Amino acid sequence: MPLAIAFRIESFDELASTQSELRRRLEAGEAVDGLVVRATRQTQGRGRRGRTWTSAEGGSYQTLAVRDPAPPALGRGGSAVAVAVGMAAAFAGYGVRLQVKWPNDLHYRGRKLGGVLTEYVRGHLLVGVGINVANEPPEGGIALRGWDLEGVHGAVLAGIQAGLDGWLDRPGELPQRFAAVDALARTEVRLAVGDGEVHGRAAGIDADGALRVETAEGPVRVRSGTVLAYGDGAPG
Ligand code: BTN
Repeated sequence: MPLAIAFRIESFDELASTQSELRRRLEAGEAVDGLVVRATRQTQGRGRRGRTWTSAEGGSYQTLAVRDPAPPALGRGGSAVAVAVGMAAAFAGYGVRLQVKWPNDLHYRGRKLGGVLTEYVRGHLLVGVGINVANEPPEGGIALRGWDLEGVHGAVLAGIQAGLDGWLDRPGELPQRFAAVDALARTEVRLAVGDGEVHGRAAGIDADGALRVETAEGPVRVRSGTVLAYGDGAPG
């Protein structure tokens, strides 16, 4: 059954981070289910693993909070991958063919267009998405120049809903749906995992979103890591 998300949107000119703002409110006891916090710019935008997400005016920056209907269903591994897959489906409807670089990068024409950040807090999933639109993308990135920002905001929310619905209703199908948009498929990858590195050939994901890597020593599953290089040696 689809998640019944009653979207409520609050927009701000400037926030430190839409993700941090929703987290703060949730931790303060506010009822945030269905709340979307949007900002024109963020001064301390957050990426995965404590990285900074540059958030100048012109981009799309928003976070949605969804209460888990059957805890810990939304807290399982794979939420960011599932949302990224939903994002690819939503943007395909506008003729934009996104690829997902495991686990949470949204690529367009081989370059990073945006990213997904998920956090499970107090029985809620916080889903933050940033997309380059009219802002200057970071080096090596790409933007949806000329796109209507409101249209992008809407496509992102549709993508989050599609991704979470598919993941909750048919969790076993995630590997197959990911395969259709997998930017790393069958390429040589080098990953930072914990204190070490994993080298090998990327071979899709498991149902819990872990990356499968065929290494010289045999198959390895990477639950959490960072792609350092892939394919022709492109930086991760
Ligand atoms: C990544 O690629 O590492 C994930 C980037 C997620 C950025 C978005 S922008 C809206 C929301 N607020 C944040 O501070 N981060 C997310």
